[in-house]
Amino acid sequence: MSQEQNNLYLSSILEKAIILPVLVIENRDDAVPLAEALLEGGCTSVEVTLRSEAALSAMEEIAKSLPELVLGAGTLLEPEQFSQVKNAGASYALSPGTTRTLAQAAIDTDFAYVPATATPSEVLELRELGFKIQKLFPAGASGGTEMLKSLGSPIADVRFCPTGGVSVSNVNDYLKQSNVICVGGSWLAPKDLVAEKNWSAITKIVRESMAAVS
Ligand code: 3PG
Repeated sequence: MSQEQNNLYLSSILEKAIILPVLVIENRDDAVPLAEALLEGGCTSVEVTLRSEAALSAMEEIAKSLPELVLGAGTLLEPEQFSQVKNAGASYALSPGTTRTLAQAAIDTDFAYVPATATPSEVLELRELGFKIQKLFPAGASGGTEMLKSLGSPIADVRFCPTGGVSVSNVNDYLKQSNVICVGGSWLAPKDLVAEKNWSAITKIVRESMAAVS
């Protein structure tokens, strides 16, 4: 796929998703019930991060059992992880920052990738490589909605998925920005509720968050 096709593909996924839950799945057995709870609440895509031993097998389980949920893989830090998450069934990848090596690995693997930026120069560097959809991370700490407004005026053709510090209390402020395609966050699947396997409480959080933005 060309970078342009990847951008179109990511747009279609992320515009629909609106809110992307960022997940740390410690137990493979939690993967499908957690994903089902998020799906039931209205999520259409999830980001399963590579922050746990179980991450790749959790991705395999979700990809196998819930093909209707678009599976994103997050926290890619090494170039070889692109082929690993692709093989595990993920449809696209995200990372908390980006290097030339990571961007090149995504291009070489021909895998849709949302690289992360936090400064105008980083945004431009990735834009030059064709990445028109980027994650703003850490969104809150790097200036939040003011940063997005400041980026949007001179760099009007890059859209962002702000993540890091987004919550139910500010999600609407982020989504109102014209250069925000969706937001990401961990608030939809709190660790304690996952540990308790309280799937209905997670569905409720997603429903409330989706209702708050629609
Ligand atoms: C991420 O990896 O995108 C962040 O850890 C999510 O940030 P949050 O916990 O502030 O939502």
